[in-house]
Amino acid sequence: MKNQQENTRLIHNGHWKDDPIGASSLPIYRASTYNQDPREDSVPYDYVRSGNPTRAALEEAIADLENGQYGFAFASGIAAISSALMLFKSGDHIIVGEDIYGGTYRVLTAILERWGLQTSWVDAADLAAVEAAISPETAGILVESPSNPLMRICDMIAIAELAKKHNLLSLTDNTFMTPLLQKPLDLGFDIVLHSATKFLGGHSDVLAGLAVVSDSALATRLRQVQIGFGAVLSPDDSWLVLRGMRTLGVRLAAQQQSASALAEWLQKQKRISQVYYPGLANHLHRSMHERQSSGSGAVLSFELENRTAALDFMAKVQIPLTAVSLGGVESIVSHPATMSHAAMPPEERKSRGINDGLLRLSVGLESVDDLITDFSQALS
Ligand SMILES: Cc1ncc(COP(=O)(O)O)c(C=O)c1O
Repeated sequence: MKNQQENTRLIHNGHWKDDPIGASSLPIYRASTYNQDPREDSVPYDYVRSGNPTRAALEEAIADLENGQYGFAFASGIAAISSALMLFKSGDHIIVGEDIYGGTYRVLTAILERWGLQTSWVDAADLAAVEAAISPETAGILVESPSNPLMRICDMIAIAELAKKHNLLSLTDNTFMTPLLQKPLDLGFDIVLHSATKFLGGHSDVLAGLAVVSDSALATRLRQVQIGFGAVLSPDDSWLVLRGMRTLGVRLAAQQQSASALAEWLQKQKRISQVYYPGLANHLHRSMHERQSSGSGAVLSFELENRTAALDFMAKVQIPLTAVSLGGVESIVSHPATMSHAAMPPEERKSRGINDGLLRLSVGLESVDDLITDFSQALS
């Protein structure tokens, strides 16, 4: 299938060509165990936590899209991230881009630091700062580009090179971009992570996480964590993500087009002091983003005067959901300070530039004209 375009491969992912009844969709294998011939040395499946054909189809599909070799499906995005972080050991030090998903901040500060994983938070856009944070204990680097929620860009190629030079494991959360817009393994990263709850699932109806690697020794270690820690994705949810992914190409293209139009429109509104979207001509790192990705995606953030203005805006918009999450077919407005980044202490948020007037918008598939009309009435 590699010679086919991604949209074609997405439509036929998990297609069960050998299905005995020719079903158009992969069966959901709910079996928790599999009959084994004790004379066989190895069997394809022995127990659902270790493997399941529906989950395996999703793992293959994401590995294919990310140009990787080995895919792993987890019970949530944060389960994928936490499981990957379990590759480190007590006493290790990792460098983390400071403008990162609040739940990742929480698992690192509230849980893994207690287990002896040390973390340095740096502005990942500042390569010198990243390099300066490397110490003899440093074992890894974790970044998001674009970052969450300020849509800051870091030089992914340079960070991956730096990691290689210092023998560090490089990890990135590619949720905002999806593999259709950015392929971190091609940029030199070791592990790419996703909350498939977002664009990959695409319909705000499933919780799932994914990881992809290319190196077989690393895959063996990650498989040990996946099975050993056991935060695996269920067969039903694997099927839902596969179903959602079939339309990822068309959804993302339309959502990105609307996001770009909305970013331009928001920039012209006088109550809005800042719009953060890598597709805007005035985005600080637009050209860097263009070098490492093929689109700006469908998430942006913008800044109103203060917390009251932001919360009022959320109360007044009628079309989008006002909720946590992103990447669904419906537009979603969220207030990072009280939602996705509530786990971050106020002073930490402030130092990272996540102000109380900041709103994040995930643009859905509604008519962009309707969204503009709605935003206009909410702003006025
Ligand atoms: C960028 C990013 N990574 C990871 C996660 C966590 O994913 P999940 O909610 O599927 O655990 C989120 C959730 O909002 C996210 O936005």
